[in-house]
Amino acid sequence: MADQDGIQDTQKYFVDIPMASEPFTLRGSNSRDWGFKNRLSNIFHHETGKTVMLAIDHGYFLGPTAGLERVDLSIVPLLPYADTLMCTRGILRSTIPPTFTKGIVLRSSGGPSILKELSNEEIAVDIEDAVRLNVAAMAVQVFIGGEHETKSVHNMTRLVDIGNRYGIPVMGVTAVGKDMVRDAKYMRLAARICAELGAAYVKTYYVAEGFDTVTASCPVPIVIAGGKKLPEQDALKMAYRAVQQGAAGVDMGRNIFQSEAPAAMIQAVGKVVHENRNPEEAYDVYRTLKSETK
Ligand code: 5RP
Repeated sequence: MADQDGIQDTQKYFVDIPMASEPFTLRGSNSRDWGFKNRLSNIFHHETGKTVMLAIDHGYFLGPTAGLERVDLSIVPLLPYADTLMCTRGILRSTIPPTFTKGIVLRSSGGPSILKELSNEEIAVDIEDAVRLNVAAMAVQVFIGGEHETKSVHNMTRLVDIGNRYGIPVMGVTAVGKDMVRDAKYMRLAARICAELGAAYVKTYYVAEGFDTVTASCPVPIVIAGGKKLPEQDALKMAYRAVQQGAAGVDMGRNIFQSEAPAAMIQAVGKVVHENRNPEEAYDVYRTLKSETK
């Protein structure tokens, strides 16, 4: 208990200074509670409003994906350069040092492997475990137009309800089936459905035509997946265009961890996302850092 002797008179009321009331500027989240916003701030940088999420959850349906065979050797060294890590609880508990204090986005849906119908997912984590792991958000795949569309949307809405109870945001991950056209019309549809049904933010793919209409019509932030491995310069161009057209950053996996120089690549992506550096400048950063690590 505080010592009651020597209590000083209070006088620092600063009556002429209005009480600060900072707006929370991340798109669509201003009416959320403190814990929810605090978790989002562990994903989106408070100064730029953007994020470089490193996605390494591929093993949840692909098994030991190229570049992720040894997460301890390939990914742990990249953690200082990521704003957020997206992974499964298996990799988190077994391999990610608990001293990593930035946001964890937990892969929270799953079920079918690459050998089966991928849209047939279930919720794959209990909220108690998400809380125990102190995650910043839960990620769930939403298969708009897929065979199990309704089930996957329902997975998301159930997670949103449970997440809201505990102040944990949900990221809706739009999963485009093999037979579907990856265009702005599809991305607008999928992203908007995720947002309307409660996702705090949404992951889509970048599309070359009309991506700005995807971000404009989605009331919550959009991050882009990297997709299949591209030459580094092309991946940087894609990230740049996405951010310039309204994306709040990337949730990038293979284009980082399958790069010839993953640490250089993630730092170059950071330049595009947080510093608005153009792809040519960012590629120079990549090459310089790559040459220094040889
Ligand atoms: C898997 C995912 C991945 O996290 C996502 O595809 C991002 O990784 P990449 O940049 O390699 O596409 O959600 O379903």
